[in-house]
This record gives sequence, C-alpha cells and structure tokens, in this order.
Amino acid sequence: MGKFLLGIIVGIILIAAVVFGYFYFGYAPVATAAMPMPLEKKMAAWGLHAQLAKAASLKPPFEPTEDDYHAGALLYREHCAACHGLPGQQRTAIAKGEYPRPPQLYQHGVTDDPAGETYWKVANGIRMTGMPGFKNSLDDKQLWQVSLLLANADKVPASVNDVLKRPLPMDAPPSSDTAASAASNTASKPAR
Ligand code: HEC
Repeated sequence: MGKFLLGIIVGIILIAAVVFGYFYFGYAPVATAAMPMPLEKKMAAWGLHAQLAKAASLKPPFEPTEDDYHAGALLYREHCAACHGLPGQQRTAIAKGEYPRPPQLYQHGVTDDPAGETYWKVANGIRMTGMPGFKNSLDDKQLWQVSLLLANADKVPASVNDVLKRPLPMDAPPSSDTAASAASNTASKPAR
C-alpha cells in the first residue's frame, strides 16, 4: 500500500513536471499561427458548452423593431465587423491574423443560435480566443440589439442589410478628398 501511494505521488509530480516544462521551456504554442495545444480545442469547447447551455434560455427583454436592427447593424459595423466580416466582403487583415479564426458570421450565419446564446458570448467574451466581452462598453439594450440582429439575420429589412453591405473604412478606396490631399502633398514636395 505504501509503495502504491508513493507511485501515485511520484506519478503526479512527474506529470506536473512535464506540463510545467512544456510551458516553461517554450514548447507550448503561443503564436496565433501555431498549431493548437493537445486537447486545447476540446477543453475550451467543454467549458464553453457548459456555460452556453444555461445562456440559451435567456430571453430578450424586448421585441426588436426596425430601429433596433438598424442600431444593431451600426454596432456590428463598429465593434464586430473587423473580425467577423460583412456580407459580401473579404476577410479583414485582423480576421486573417487571429487564432482561433473568428467565424465570418455573414458567410456561415449564426442564425440557428438562439439570441440568448449570442448575447452571452457578446456580453462575456470567449476566454483564450480573440472574442472580446462587451458588457463594460455596451449597455444591455445594445448587447441585445446586436445579438437579435445576428439571430434574425435572414429576417431583417433590406434597409438594414444595405447598412451592413457598405464597405468598412479599412476596405474602402481612398475618398476623393484624401486622394486630392495626397496628390497635393506629393506636388508640394521639393523636386530632387
Ligand atoms: C478581435 C476580434 C473579434 C471582435 C472585435 C469580435 N469578435 Fe466575436 N469572435 C471572435 C473569435 C476569435 C471568435 C471565435 C471564438 C471561438 O473559437 O470559440 C468569436 C466568436 C463569436 C461568436 C460565436 C460564433 C459561433 O459560431 O460560435 C459570436 C456570436 C460573436 N463572436 C459575436 C461577436 C459580436 C456580435 C461582436 C461585436 C459586438 C464580436 N463578436 C466582436 C473574435 C472577435
């Protein structure tokens, strides 16, 4: 019995030492471009699913109107589109550089997720991914507006989709103003 216990204790210490060494000596992937750690995806998914099972039953405190969808679309453009993309647009540089990859919501759609689940993710964020929690920067109504926009993506009025389809500033070709000022800058440079 004594030997058995000793074996268990030595075993635990060995496992702890290997795990410690894995991180301490730099074998654990820390770059977003690196392969995931063994079990990383599974463990993150278990934790998230347990939380989301509770969140799915959260009910929106209001029925969304067209104004709510509009507000949601503007919030989405400002706070989400850099990572999650817009309908018909390319992935942004930010989206390409993240690990795990932010799902391009308007390519695959989150429409089958209940609004309560999206609300939980947007409010709290998803730890160890690039997904920020917004509960300290958006108020509760705004959190629901953007969540309801995504939950009802196939039902929102066309005018809301028009707002979403406008390119982001980072994608847009330079406006005539900036092009003109860039041209005048070059023109005013002394010739060499
Ligand atoms: C800096 C990048 C970034 C920003 C900004 C961002 N997200 Fe995310 N989001 C992510 C990443 C990365 C994931 C994937 C997390 C994972 O793999 O579990 C994610 C996941 C999600 C998911 C879950 C998708 C699914 O299919 O499971 C939803 C919904 C979501 N984000 C909504 C939003 C909304 C709404 C906003 C804006 C209010 C937002 N996100 C802003 C990076 C971002």
